[in-house]
Amino acid sequence: MMQKDYLSVLDARDEFAELVQSALDLKKRDRSGENDEPLKGRTLAMIFEKSSTRTRVSFEVAMNQLGGRSLFLNPQDTQLGRGETISDPARTLSRYVDCIAYRAFDHEMVLDLARNSSIPVINALDDLEHPCQALADVATIAERRTPRGLKLAYVGDGNNVCNSLLLACSITGIDISAACPEGHEPDQGIVEDARRLASRAGSRCDVLRDPREAVHEANVIYTDVWISMGDRDVEKRLEAFSEYQVNSGLVALASPDCLIMHCLPAHRGQEITGEVIDGPQSIVFDQAENRLHAQKALLLALLR
Ligand code: CP
Ligand code: NVA
Repeated sequence: MMQKDYLSVLDARDEFAELVQSALDLKKRDRSGENDEPLKGRTLAMIFEKSSTRTRVSFEVAMNQLGGRSLFLNPQDTQLGRGETISDPARTLSRYVDCIAYRAFDHEMVLDLARNSSIPVINALDDLEHPCQALADVATIAERRTPRGLKLAYVGDGNNVCNSLLLACSITGIDISAACPEGHEPDQGIVEDARRLASRAGSRCDVLRDPREAVHEANVIYTDVWISMGDRDVEKRLEAFSEYQVNSGLVALASPDCLIMHCLPAHRGQEITGEVIDGPQSIVFDQAENRLHAQKALLLALLR
């Protein structure tokens, strides 16, 4: 039984494998044209403080395909933009809609919204985690390989995407090595949780400095932008990450059949070269597609 909310990958610790399988089953069903509208009459409200292409569109399309509706709420057009305390719209929206997806700058705001809502709240990305992304990522890996025992190397910023991936891989039994520059390591509390989960699953969770060491024998290389939404100090960041580009030289050090992943949006020529992201080992558009199937699995688990 899922928790009320999905704010962190940890909220679905016990259901994670089931959600991954459900996403892949829904993908097959989608292609077969079956559509039984299980969320008919249900509404998802989406509050996005930051830009989005994949998360917003995949949630909207997921609700449509499941027979429900979605409402996109730009904080600028609502009283939130004028400083309304998050707990008041939380209590109000709980009386209108069935679920809220929230993309926020501050993880505390997501917690606050969830605490004050009587309906499920989904973290659609904040400064600490991107749990919807990690669900689609593990589904994308599971679609191609048996996940348990694989090695994933994450190269770059120890950000929201990295944090959720550490948890998701460690729950699933995928060895994860994150190579991050000094001062840009993943969240320490999350690393500790991930290590506990990894030891239960019989896998490893390592945080290193050297990208070459991280990608050694890796079956998947994953990277994300060097400058996330809300990050400052662009010049300092570009300098800190200059040795962390995923390029053909780095990919050559991994397992020969290594898959390349990126949550998108990507900056070709910064964290990844065009040659690698558009090359034959890249599965980034399957990964992007699977956001849709993973959102459906999640919505069904929370709303049914
Ligand atoms: N990967 C991801 O969350 O993309 P968007 O910012 O486009 O939603
Ligand atoms: N780390 C990135 C992910 C975007 C999907 C950001 O937070 O901007």
